[in-house]
Amino acid sequence: MKGIILAAGKGTRLYPITLPVCKPLLPVYDKPLIYYPLSVLMNAGIRDIMVITPPEDTKPFEDLLSDGSRFGINICYKEQPVQRGIADAFILAEEFIGDDCCCLALGDNIFYGSGFRKKLRDAKGYCAKGAAIFGYYVPDPRPFGVVEFSSDGTALSIEEKPKHPKSNYIVPGLYFYDNQVVSIAKNIQPSARGELEITSVNNAYLAEGTLHVIPLESEFSWFDAGTADSLYDAAGHIRSAQRSGKMIGCLEEIALHNQWITLDDLANSADSMSKTEYGKYLSNIVEDN
Ligand code: G1P
Repeated sequence: MKGIILAAGKGTRLYPITLPVCKPLLPVYDKPLIYYPLSVLMNAGIRDIMVITPPEDTKPFEDLLSDGSRFGINICYKEQPVQRGIADAFILAEEFIGDDCCCLALGDNIFYGSGFRKKLRDAKGYCAKGAAIFGYYVPDPRPFGVVEFSSDGTALSIEEKPKHPKSNYIVPGLYFYDNQVVSIAKNIQPSARGELEITSVNNAYLAEGTLHVIPLESEFSWFDAGTADSLYDAAGHIRSAQRSGKMIGCLEEIALHNQWITLDDLANSADSMSKTEYGKYLSNIVEDN
C-alpha cells in the first residue's frame, strides 16, 4: 500500500502566518503539523509515502523529512502545480500508486486515541476491494464532508459542506482506497467551487456499494488544524494528552515499534535533539530498552 500526504494547500485561512511558510510545517505544540498525519500513515504500516507540496515549495519539506530514512520510510515529493482539489492527489500520484492500493492523509488533520492501530488495520483490510473512511461526531459539521446514515447505521449519502447537514458525523481527512481510485478521480467533475472533491470519490464508492465508514468513538480526538483557533486548540490538546507521558506523533518511536529502525538509529536522533523535550523523550526510550 502507498501513502500520500496532501500538503499543498495555500493555508489562506491562516494568512499572514502562512505567507512565508506552508501550513503543514507550522508547529503544533512540540512538533510540526505534518508529523501527525505522517505518524498515522506509519501507524498503518505504510512505508512508501509521497508528500504533495505547493509549487516550488518542496525544499522546506525536504529539509524537515529528507528521504524519510531517519524514520525507516521512503519519502518522495511531488508538486501540485494548480490547486484543483483533494482528489487531484490521485491523478498526480498515478505513477507512484502504480498497481497498489493507497491511503491519503490530509496534511492538516490530527488523529489520536487508543485502539487507532486496530482501526487502521481494519481500514486497510477493506480497501483490498473498495474504500474505507471514518466517521467522527462534531457539534457543527457544516464545514466538512457529512455522512448520512440509515437507522441501521448504513451510510446513505455524503455531502460536502452542506448548509443543512443530515447528521453530525463528518468524514475526517484520512481515506483508504483500492487501485480504482485513480480512474475514479479522473472521471469526477469539478464541484461548484471548482474542485475535484474527495466527497465525489467517496460517493462513487458508495454508489458501487463498496464504501465502509468506520466510526471513531467520542473519546477519540480529531482536529482539522486549518484555522488559528483550531491550531491553537490542537496544540493545547496535544500538550495535555502528552502529560500522560506518552508522546503523540513521535515518528522515531513508531519506526522503532515497527522494527523499521534500530535502537542505535533512534539514539542518534535523540543525540541530535538533546536540548528539546522531543529529544529527551527519545533518550528515555533508549534508556528503557
Ligand atoms: C476537506 C474535505 C472534507 C473533509 C475535511 C476534513 O475539507 O473536502 O470533506 O471533511 O477536509 O478536514 P477542506 O479542508 O477542503 O475544507
